[in-house]
Amino acid sequence: MAEAGAITLRPGTLDDIPAFVALGRAVVPPTYGPIDADYAQRMIDEWWTPAVFTTSLQRNTHLVAEADGEVVALANLGRLSQSYRDFPHVTGDREVMWKLYVHPAHHGRGIGSRLLAEVESRVEGDELWLEVVDGNRQAYDFYRARGFSEVERVSDGRYPDDVWMRKDLGGQP
Ligand SMILES: CC(C)(COP(=O)(O)OP(=O)(O)OC[C@H]1O[C@@H](n2cnc3c(N)ncnc32)[C@H](O)[C@@H]1OP(=O)(O)O)[C@@H](O)C(=O)NCCC(=O)NCCS
Repeated sequence: MAEAGAITLRPGTLDDIPAFVALGRAVVPPTYGPIDADYAQRMIDEWWTPAVFTTSLQRNTHLVAEADGEVVALANLGRLSQSYRDFPHVTGDREVMWKLYVHPAHHGRGIGSRLLAEVESRVEGDELWLEVVDGNRQAYDFYRARGFSEVERVSDGRYPDDVWMRKDLGGQP
């Protein structure tokens, strides 16, 4: 897999789970705390857990970025139909990048862009989907600048909306 400078990309494995949990504790609070502190805590407690990663690693492709042997970023790709969540607003299936998280100490080094490109290269169809939490302006702008467009917003009435974005990888408008 590609290597440049001190950053190496490689597939994620079960051995990475402790590093994934630690990454979540470093990146989730500063990202979502200012939007909704309860939601940020819920993410840590319910979604960035060893049990969830164990299941996710069986169903989804995980990619990690390492710097000096430390995991500094995580991305993953899977199918909507393989998720443990329900998506009643969706007909059919979607290939989804569920996570793209770079440790705050390593933002702006091109790691997110490299992981996204690697994820895109693994998409089997001609479009990639993702969810951004409403209010995560930095990520929203990052994706807009890399060819994603907002498609829909999903609200549960309690937590911030999920903004679904899509990128056409097929070269057709
Ligand atoms: C969004 C995110 C994945 C981007 O990863 P990254 O490695 O910082 O991105 P890159 O270095 O490849 O690109 C930097 C881009 O982000 C912008 N950026 C955002 N925060 C930045 C920061 N702290 N330092 C430098 N650039 C930053 C830059 O403007 C640049 O945009 P441009 O190249 O279009 O001008 C990363 O900031 C992140 O993990 N954020 C917190 C978690 C999150 O919101 N994840 C997305 C969930 S949907």
